[in-house]
Amino acid sequence: MSPRVSQELIEELIDSGSREHYTDAALYDYEYRRRRADVAFYRELANKRLGASGRVLELGAGTGRVTIALARAGHEVVAVDASPQMLARLRSRVAALPKAAGARVQVVPGDLRNFDVLSRSPASAGSLHSRSRFPLAIAAFNVLEHLYTRGELHACLERVAAHLAPGGAFAFDVQMPDLAWLIRDPNKRWAKTRFTDPTTKRAMYYSTNHDYDPVNQIVMIRLYYEPVDGRGPSRVVHLSQRKFFPAELEALVAHAGFRVVDQFGDFQWRPLDGSAESQVLVCERARTGPKKTAR
Ligand SMILES: C[S@@+](CC[C@H](N)C(=O)[O-])C[C@H]1O[C@@H](n2cnc3c(N)ncnc32)[C@H](O)[C@@H]1O
Repeated sequence: MSPRVSQELIEELIDSGSREHYTDAALYDYEYRRRRADVAFYRELANKRLGASGRVLELGAGTGRVTIALARAGHEVVAVDASPQMLARLRSRVAALPKAAGARVQVVPGDLRNFDVLSRSPASAGSLHSRSRFPLAIAAFNVLEHLYTRGELHACLERVAAHLAPGGAFAFDVQMPDLAWLIRDPNKRWAKTRFTDPTTKRAMYYSTNHDYDPVNQIVMIRLYYEPVDGRGPSRVVHLSQRKFFPAELEALVAHAGFRVVDQFGDFQWRPLDGSAESQVLVCERARTGPKKTAR
């Protein structure tokens, strides 16, 4: 079992680990260019729940992998994210859309823990994120793994609840914790891959390792980027993720006043089982309200 790291170090790593991986948005898009099944899943979910055209609140929208697909499909999307670099890339992708599709996307800087797109200035009252609540909110691709404590998750779910229309749904995915992966030797380099950096065009090696704190259920990942020719600086990028176990997750959403109405183990709508890589949840408000939480 990995030794526990100090609280101070955890906080530092969490802080850098929720931002650093998202400072090179072009590299992010390159690394996840083949990840398409989740995009199709969220588009299909929106079509099923909203029909041909509806309003979606997207949390942690990033560079817009899902946002763009939803807008192209006819939905209006209010896309919230905290990373200026990811949002800049999203804005340029929106600008490149056909005019009608581009007009369906509103990009809003905001934090998962305290966002509010309903009470924005009167000047924005006519825009997509005016005061009416949403029939669907989503957080695609492990976004909620950037909520590192029970209190942070609860705060986010409270904001989601405040933004959902009656009968509305919140859909999100997080990884299924992989026990063998979590306890990998943190001193080895794993997944070594050669690639060409999309911005600098230099040949690079990628590799990774991590430490896992089993008490806080936080994995602190290091992503190493090293020039193949050995010339020039190497980079270490931190990425921190909170791991959620299935029964715990169900209890946490229930604690915030939601009930799980659908649960899948992948983006092909297959049920969650022990071989699943992802936990894909669709939640609705439960009849009773959320409970107060301590921290
Ligand atoms: C793994 S990316 C997913 C991006 C996008 N949903 C996708 O499917 O490609 C996680 C996103 O969450 C954002 N994020 C992390 N912590 C956040 C926070 N506290 N508030 C808002 N966004 C946050 C990051 O900036 C990043 O864009």
